[in-house]
Parts: sequence; C-alpha cells; structure tokens
Amino acid sequence: MIDKLIAQDFNEEVVKSTIMVTKDTFVDTFGGNLDSWLTKKLVDTYIEIWKEDPWNENWKSKDVQMLLNDLLNTRDFVLLLQLGTASYNDAQNQIASFTWAYYVNKNDLLKIAGFDSDTIYGESGRGFMTALGNIFNNDPKVAYLAELGTKREFRHNYNAWNLSVGLLSILQKRGYNKVVLRTDVRAVGAKRLYKKLGFVDLGAKDAVHQNRTYWMLEI
Ligand SMILES: CC(C)(COP(=O)(O)OP(=O)(O)OC[C@H]1O[C@@H](n2cnc3c(N)ncnc32)[C@H](O)[C@@H]1OP(=O)(O)O)[C@@H](O)C(=O)NCCC(=O)NCCS
Repeated sequence: MIDKLIAQDFNEEVVKSTIMVTKDTFVDTFGGNLDSWLTKKLVDTYIEIWKEDPWNENWKSKDVQMLLNDLLNTRDFVLLLQLGTASYNDAQNQIASFTWAYYVNKNDLLKIAGFDSDTIYGESGRGFMTALGNIFNNDPKVAYLAELGTKREFRHNYNAWNLSVGLLSILQKRGYNKVVLRTDVRAVGAKRLYKKLGFVDLGAKDAVHQNRTYWMLEI
C-alpha cells in the first residue's frame, strides 16, 4: 500500500526536507524544551488551524504545549513538520504543515472517542464498537493519526499529501499494521485527501463530537 502511494505523485525530496520529531530526537529538534522557536511556531499554527470551520476549537498555548509534552513523554509518538516560506519577501521559515500520530490500544481509542466504562454499554457505545468491527483483533499495532494541518497560505501544494505519505511510511517501518483517524463529515478537503490515501470511513461516531467519524487504513 505504501509503495503504491509513494509511486503516485509523491515528492520524496519534500519529505526529506521535513523535520521528524520523536522522543529520541526531541532534544536535537526542539532543544528538549517546549519553549523553543520551533515549538512556539507549531503551537501558533495549531491554534490558528483548529479555529477554522468545522473545527471551531479555541486552544490555549499552554494546553497545546501540555498535550505535546504528554505525548512526547508517554507515547510512541511521531511528529512531522514541513517548513516553508510563503513568499519571496518572507525571509523567515514558517511551519507550512504538520501531522502527528501515536500508538493506541482499544481503550485509548475509546477514551479518545469520549466513551468511558458507563457510556460504552449504551446505544451509541454499542454502535461505535460495532462500526469499529474487529480492527483490534489478532493484536495489531495501531497508530492514531491525531493531527494534520496546512497553514492557509500553503494549501493546495501537496504539503499534506506528502507529509501523510511520509508519516504512513514511517509508521509502517515502526511496525504498525493499522492507522486510525477521526475527521468531521463536513471537512470536505480532509475527507478527499484521506480517501485518496486509501482510508475508509468506518462510520463509527464520536461520543462527544457527533459530526466526527473514525476512519481506518491498513498499512
Ligand atoms: C485538509 C488540509 C490538511 C489539506 O492540506 P493541503 O496541504 O492543502 O493538501 P494537499 O495540497 O496535500 O492536497 C492533497 C489532496 O487533498 C485534497 N484536498 C486538499 N484540500 C482540498 C480542498 N480544500 N477541497 C477539496 N479537496 C482538497 C485533494 O484531493 C488534493 O489533491 P488534488 O488537488 O489533486 O485533488 C488543509 O486544508 C487543512 O489544514 N485544513 C484544516 C485542518 C483540517 O481539516 N485537517 C484535517 C483534520 S482531520
């Protein structure tokens, strides 16, 4: 699957020029602290992108930093950043795109989807489990692709495509068999991109965000 994706429209040079951050490379890339120039840029980009419709989220810098810190310290976590300059006059590099994924088991995914031990036995919980089907059978290694975003001025340049293919390829090399993500039914661009990558909408509905469903790709 990954080989097929790489053969299609994939620009290896772009992915070579991306920054990969994991727990092991955190010190080299972010200077080991979340106050670095790069993290500040990432946090600002994150806040800006998730303010958009249909996400309408209002993140605080501190909470994004805490989220990153937590993921870097507790998970098998991979973050890819694509730097870029928006115009010739723009001397400073910006974060054009970012994406990240991390290891999840079934309970992690239920928690992400907003279910706890009470709600999972209710109607929506049963529906969610049915839609997920048997994706956790036979002990697969599953990654949750939690974030993907491109700053407005960098869109339609295949940044998200290249980062996604790069991330899937890295996850495959790290032994993952499946990748799960959640997107909004109204996020037309994101859905089109995920379909092109081979993801399938499982139709499993989030307990908190009713317009968001879970998608899966075997890699
Ligand atoms: C979705 C998003 C990440 C795409 O970023 P991008 O860097 O512009 O995407 P790419 O240039 O790599 O596009 C690749 C493919 O995705 C699809 N696509 C991307 N943006 C699209 C849009 N606005 N409308 C329709 N299709 C779109 C297309 O299929 C495109 O390929 P094509 O142009 O050959 O048809 C970006 O619009 C974004 O950050 N949106 C807000 C955040 C978001 O929704 N993230 C996903 C959350 S799950």
